[in-house]
Amino acid sequence: MKGDPKHLGFSTRAIHAGQPPDPRTGAVAVPIYQTSTYVQQGLGQHQGYEYARVQNPTREALEQNVAELEGGVSGHAFASGMAAIASLMTLLEAGDHVVVSRNVYGGTFRYFTQVLERGKLSFSWVDSSDLDAVSGAMTAATRMVFIETPTNPVMDISDIGGAAEIAHARGALLVVDNTFLSPYLQRPIEHGADLVVHSTTKFLNGHSDSVGGAVVCARRQEADWLAFMQKSMGAILSPFDSFLVLRGIKTLGVRMQRHESNARAVVELLAAQPKVRRVLYPGLPDHPGHDVHRRQASGFGSMVTLEMGTYAAAKALLEGVEVYSLAESLGGVESLISHPATMTHASVPAERRALLGLTDSMVRLSVGIEDVEDLLADLDQALAKV
Ligand SMILES: Cc1ncc(COP(=O)(O)O)c(C=O)c1O
Repeated sequence: MKGDPKHLGFSTRAIHAGQPPDPRTGAVAVPIYQTSTYVQQGLGQHQGYEYARVQNPTREALEQNVAELEGGVSGHAFASGMAAIASLMTLLEAGDHVVVSRNVYGGTFRYFTQVLERGKLSFSWVDSSDLDAVSGAMTAATRMVFIETPTNPVMDISDIGGAAEIAHARGALLVVDNTFLSPYLQRPIEHGADLVVHSTTKFLNGHSDSVGGAVVCARRQEADWLAFMQKSMGAILSPFDSFLVLRGIKTLGVRMQRHESNARAVVELLAAQPKVRRVLYPGLPDHPGHDVHRRQASGFGSMVTLEMGTYAAAKALLEGVEVYSLAESLGGVESLISHPATMTHASVPAERRALLGLTDSMVRLSVGIEDVEDLLADLDQALAKV
């Protein structure tokens, strides 16, 4: 592909952005530059590459690609989603305050409460689906609003544009963890976010064979700091993982379409099942965040949470499935089933989980892209054992 990809469709950009043919060989796939250093022609003379913690062409291709898809000025790839979050939190200084969605990923909760609070940041945990709660928590020291939408696993929806307005009125940054939807379905920068963070481990890579993270910046100021953090902290994504994620993103569009159509069929089946007390999915018209979600995203994704009523019913379902695999994580081609209270959110204390509505009888599905008939039949047979 030649020229600027800006006017092209999502999948065309996913396949081509940041990936001109290799100048030496014409290779269509970006090579894995598995090198730690680069020979310099003379003192102070090099080709823009000095040391691989700072610059690597495979990582750069991924970073340009993700930045293009999210509509930002720069992308920064990290060794994990948590490394991406840890690196972006260095934008803050001791004494700063953060307003954060009360139901963020358990690892983010653990990092904020057990690590950053020791480093003298303070946090207000709010129901960010309620904009009044967000604005009510802002203080003179607030420098960041950090949200996930939908939240994991309770599926609360937050209004990105509304949160951006509140943050910007106080000179704070809005960060959105967009892991659950991917830029194919939701692009927070278009709604005013300053930074978007991803666990690329999930939908972006999509094949459950790499752990990684990315931050996309809307402005140069934060971009320069994050590049400096890649150099200074060094929590960078390896060339091989960069290659895998770049390869995964090429099929993001078709995967997300299939993820979503499979999820809709699964939701329809489960919503009609008396053994399932409640289905939490933003695509259901009675979901409290349905309208807000529709305004800011082009689809509902494939994360589905079930309230089974009792722990025993949840356990029977979790252990009764045969096609779904009982595993942490999400966003891969294979369908996964998990128990948030003891798996992804085990680091959230029980009383806090109760406050969030995250019960021991909840089951989370990451609906994959297998044949939908098999996914439905598997749930049917597992529910028969509940
Ligand atoms: C929404 C969300 N953000 C961040 C992370 C952390 O990503 P990683 O596991 O790649 O460190 C996860 C992991 O499950 C997640 O679900």
